[in-house]
Amino acid sequence: MGADSNNKPRVLSGIQPSGNLTIGNYLGALKQWVEVQHDYDCFYCVVDLHAITVTQDPLELRQKTRESAAMYIAAGIDPEVSTIFVQSHVPAHSELAWMLTCMAPLGWLQRMTQFKDKSAKQAQESIGAGLLNYPSLMAADILLYHADLVPVGDDQNQHLEFTRDLAQRFNHLYGETFTLPSVMNPQAGARIMGLDIPTAKMSKSEDSENHAVFLLDDLARARKKIMRAVTDSHRDIRFSDQAERAGVNNLLTIYQAIAGERNEEIEAKFAGCGYGDLKRAVADSVVSTLEPLQERYYQLMNEAGYLDSVLRLGREKAAAIAEATLKLAQERMGFLAPS
Ligand code: TRP
Repeated sequence: MGADSNNKPRVLSGIQPSGNLTIGNYLGALKQWVEVQHDYDCFYCVVDLHAITVTQDPLELRQKTRESAAMYIAAGIDPEVSTIFVQSHVPAHSELAWMLTCMAPLGWLQRMTQFKDKSAKQAQESIGAGLLNYPSLMAADILLYHADLVPVGDDQNQHLEFTRDLAQRFNHLYGETFTLPSVMNPQAGARIMGLDIPTAKMSKSEDSENHAVFLLDDLARARKKIMRAVTDSHRDIRFSDQAERAGVNNLLTIYQAIAGERNEEIEAKFAGCGYGDLKRAVADSVVSTLEPLQERYYQLMNEAGYLDSVLRLGREKAAAIAEATLKLAQERMGFLAPS
């Protein structure tokens, strides 16, 4: 299962259109999506249904959804090679998600660290049930396409395990239906941390000014944020997993994710340098990554109708596969087919 007519294993991934995309999204996800697109049959979606697990402003959600799709392309995903689509444009996602929700043990859902973290940040009364059921929707995204591989940051590994467990449960109860997906974590830069709090993952929905570099940040501003990144009171520039040294480690990780060099090479390069030198080097490499990306982004946002046509085609390609899988799952579960 999984392979289609072109016989390549299938890849599926998505990012929520909540907030602006950051260099964490680029280095931890998009960059890898671009790199694998010729080796696999890739489906990349903008997961707007996931975004509404916390309240979104309608105007902003619509705008961010378009911007995210445009950013996928600007980052280098070729719509002629990969399928780019919006999750809510393919209703099969919501439909299968409900079926999976009914099969998902409450205990599994309550054990998810992302749920625990996100719900801890909100008043009990205001937590939507969608936050709990988030992993069932993610499982639907993946299983509808018989995805073999799912490139995600390692914070999503638990959701992938959940997806496999749920698929197995379905297959066991109703017969072989879903492909069990494997996780694909990026080598370096799986986890870019906040510049102000380097012990927490860089988030696109964090308010503080120096937390994240956004992909659309003015280049001078991006540079300034990196120059202000939290470091420590040591002097040596080295990769480290000590919490105390998380800031320097994060800067090195960003540098590495862009340069693609090994730890030792990078440490040798910065031997004897100060934190100012490190920050300047990181800022230079970030800025030279952002510059061409922004240029492509504004170019294609100005091309009337282009993005819409990409999303229309993506929706058609995605829906054809998703609907067939949904139909099979409905049949297996015992739904009466409409005549
Ligand atoms: N939960 C993922 C995240 O926050 C986003 C996501 C939703 C996703 N559906 C997916 C990732 C399907 C991979 C595959 O990063």
